[in-house]
Amino acid sequence: MTHDTADTAENPPRSGRTARTVLVAEGLGCAYHGKSVVSEVDLTVPAGQTVAVLGPSGAGKSTMLRCLAGLEQLASGSVDFQGELLSKAGTKPRSMGGRIGMVFQQFNLFPHLTAMENVALAPQRVLRTPRAQARTEALALLERVGLAEHAGHFPYELSGGQQQRVAIARALAMRPELMLFDEPTSALDPEFTREVLAVMRDLAASGMTVVVVTHEMAFARQSADRVVFMADGRIVEDGPAEKVFTAPQQDRTRRFFEQILGE
Ligand SMILES: Nc1ncnc2c1ncn2[C@@H]1O[C@H](COP(=O)(O)OP(=O)(O)O)[C@@H](O)[C@H]1O
Ligand SMILES: [Mg+2]
Repeated sequence: MTHDTADTAENPPRSGRTARTVLVAEGLGCAYHGKSVVSEVDLTVPAGQTVAVLGPSGAGKSTMLRCLAGLEQLASGSVDFQGELLSKAGTKPRSMGGRIGMVFQQFNLFPHLTAMENVALAPQRVLRTPRAQARTEALALLERVGLAEHAGHFPYELSGGQQQRVAIARALAMRPELMLFDEPTSALDPEFTREVLAVMRDLAASGMTVVVVTHEMAFARQSADRVVFMADGRIVEDGPAEKVFTAPQQDRTRRFFEQILGE
């Protein structure tokens, strides 16, 4: 599960190269109408790591994620993705296309397209993948998220959990190097949460680099390598998931767990 071990003589990288860093945010800040909502965020995400972002509502989690995706202009700082500048204060972020996959609380599938067409569309339009190949790959991805039998179904024929899994397959179809999730299970009935979390767990285990904002504490604890806790627009605590859960260093983190775990 953990892929963030430093490359050392005793622990050489498998590929023979140094471990890659996928994302680096430095001094990241974001403001709406002149009011700062995220500030001084420093975050480095190595390849293969799964980072769970936790924190109370209004903490700035979604905003930070949107900044990391290049969907918001920064008020301060910068974001590098795969060693290239993605975004810096005062300039419009560069488009990374599907290289950064994003899945939101609302699935936003195209209602007039089947599950398979939803997944196959962007590769054809953006990557110029031939139609037959895009459809074959879409089917394989739908199978991966447990929806092979639903390839021909329209969104209205699918449950929320199934729609969200189509949305995940759709993001994966663009061969992303980073997946960002913003509360992917928050809009789901509890019985459908588990199947979406199972897909996310597989994704994390497959070596994908993932940053996920979530309120699913068991998922964060078991499936994330690392937990980032945010409050009032800042990162308050950042450490290995198990350590943050069992021995949070900050009062603010401790209080959050007490509230949410109802102790
Ligand atoms: N588009 C927007 N315009 C103005 N204020 C916003 C916008 N989006 C979020 N905010 C404000 O920014 C703060 C952080 O919001 P958000 O990033 O959504 O937090 P979280 O995801 O942790 O709940 C909140 O005070 C919210 O009201
Ligand atoms: Mg949010």
